[in-house]
Amino acid sequence: MRWKDQIKSLAPYQPGKSKDEVKRQYGLEEIIKLASNENPFGCSKKVSEVMSKETGYFALYPDGYATNLRDVLAEHVGVTKDQLIFGNGSDELILIIARALLRPGYNTVMATPTFPQYKHNAIIEGAETREIPLVDGHHDLDQMLAAIDEKTNVVWVCSPNNPTGTYIPKEKLESFLARVPKETLVVLDEAYYEYVVADDYYNSVELVEQYSNLIVLRTFSKIYGLASLRVGYGFASKEIIRALEPVREPFNVNSFAQLAAIEALGDQEYVENCRTLNHQGLEQFYKFCEQHNLSYMPSQGNFILIDFKTDGNEVFQFLLERGYIVRSGNALGFPTSVRVTVGSKEQNAGIIEKMSQYVKVKAH
Ligand SMILES: Cc1ncc(COP(=O)(O)O)c(C=O)c1O
Repeated sequence: MRWKDQIKSLAPYQPGKSKDEVKRQYGLEEIIKLASNENPFGCSKKVSEVMSKETGYFALYPDGYATNLRDVLAEHVGVTKDQLIFGNGSDELILIIARALLRPGYNTVMATPTFPQYKHNAIIEGAETREIPLVDGHHDLDQMLAAIDEKTNVVWVCSPNNPTGTYIPKEKLESFLARVPKETLVVLDEAYYEYVVADDYYNSVELVEQYSNLIVLRTFSKIYGLASLRVGYGFASKEIIRALEPVREPFNVNSFAQLAAIEALGDQEYVENCRTLNHQGLEQFYKFCEQHNLSYMPSQGNFILIDFKTDGNEVFQFLLERGYIVRSGNALGFPTSVRVTVGSKEQNAGIIEKMSQYVKVKAH
């Protein structure tokens, strides 16, 4: 078979060990997964109540226009209905954008390390990828601009950035957007938008009004606690949405996901509460890092990258054997760090205790 050459270099997704496997292997009773930046509190009760009663959807295709969700979301975000596109998670929107714009002979610019799906999809489409190293965990927007040329079709900006948790302040982002050529699409991935508490964070809805080459991606997988249902959305000028829509599979967001997302949007008190708890959780980690003299990146997301100045895989393994699954920084471009998702207060205290043990063991 004549496979695309470029996919031969890509590894299939490697699932981690299941919780049951880890329990059996290490004789543990409980496993706490703080590895995928999910919401430790799950979703709003309002969502689970409605979903538990809903059984009538199985035989019917979903509404391919997500009419009801579109109405509610347009109002919530403050854009018109034709400025929205929905994806099977924002992952699928990244794929749709890459499919629509990237191809051999063209290139795409992104930071590194950042969310890996930008590069992954660009490779599949045969485009050249230009990766600009972060500086102290932050996007180097000047170097990203310098890497853009007349063959750059997409530039990806992740804020807050995964895996660093850093964000781009308003002034810097505006000055960047003003200088990106109009033929280049800027994708601003705001998967962690609802967790942000920084004062100088920008208003991306206003930016979309101002910049006709900008699309913003958000998701219901993070603060809304609906990762398994797979629903993300993008907003941009109606011209960009019109151009992308034919690439979208007609029934990409299932009926349960649409219903759950509507209910989730209706409970903003829950969202606010999760944001506050996350912020308090981050403080627990900052305190731990400061006590042990470990460097970390202050985060605007629901995760924190902590540098143990040793092999990240070793820290990962130490925590795994004690019932906590995190992400080793090794696979994320920070080989001496681990990325920990902020959990509940008790979960954070639990993992902090194990991390303190690790630091002590290493010191002796
Ligand atoms: C920065 C970023 N973008 C996009 C996604 C994809 O989210 P989903 O496909 O669940 O909407 C993630 C998930 O971890 C992420 O961290």
